[in-house]
Amino acid sequence: MGIRIAPSLLAADFARLGEEVARIPNADWLHVDVMDNHFVPNLTLGVPVVEALGKVAEVPMDLHLMIEDPDRWAPAYVEAGAGSVTFHVEAATAPVRLARELRALGARAGMALRPATPVEPYEELLPELDMLLVMTVEPGFGGQKFLDLCLPKVRRARQLLDKHGLELWLQVDGGVSLETVERCAEAGADTFVAGSAVFGADDPVAMIDSLREKAEASRAS
Ligand code: DX5
Ligand code: ZN
Repeated sequence: MGIRIAPSLLAADFARLGEEVARIPNADWLHVDVMDNHFVPNLTLGVPVVEALGKVAEVPMDLHLMIEDPDRWAPAYVEAGAGSVTFHVEAATAPVRLARELRALGARAGMALRPATPVEPYEELLPELDMLLVMTVEPGFGGQKFLDLCLPKVRRARQLLDKHGLELWLQVDGGVSLETVERCAEAGADTFVAGSAVFGADDPVAMIDSLREKAEASRAS
């Protein structure tokens, strides 16, 4: 079972994005949080910045769209260079159509669940996706405390994936750190977003390695 570490750029210095991206050469993905001030009460960046990041990033970009109307806006992020695009199911009008469109454009399609959104209603939809994101904080801000109450959902999501023999990646995002990564991995996550833990570390490369080691050890046990 592969483990993937995706540092979230939200915790980086936005005045020096190019240099910040260069600090995480051993990451598997670069997690980029797009917020529109409507779906969440925060505003970050959009297509032009993603395009610019794509020119300097050494690893593929994992877009997390915390925006209203992803049906309309998500495809542009594939064209901007994203390798993976995740939309929130709470905001999507036609998640199946959108996932198919993202895949047809050549990206991995991801679907995210807020902490209060259950996974069970989407069981039949899972084969349309390449990744399921179980949020472990309320989306909108970095540096929040990990919500343990989301772990049973990670476990149930893993059971659904196993039941159907699906190869989707199971991502957790929010409050992931050396303190919480093992719990997430034990519950069945294999893809870990970490913002403040990585960009707040003195040595982001060593932090990525440590997170990966802990996750690998917990997945194996
Ligand atoms: C929160 C974002 C996360 C955030 C994680 O809405 O989706 O990606 O950057 O930050 P940390 O790891 O600091 O909780
Ligand atoms: Zn995110």
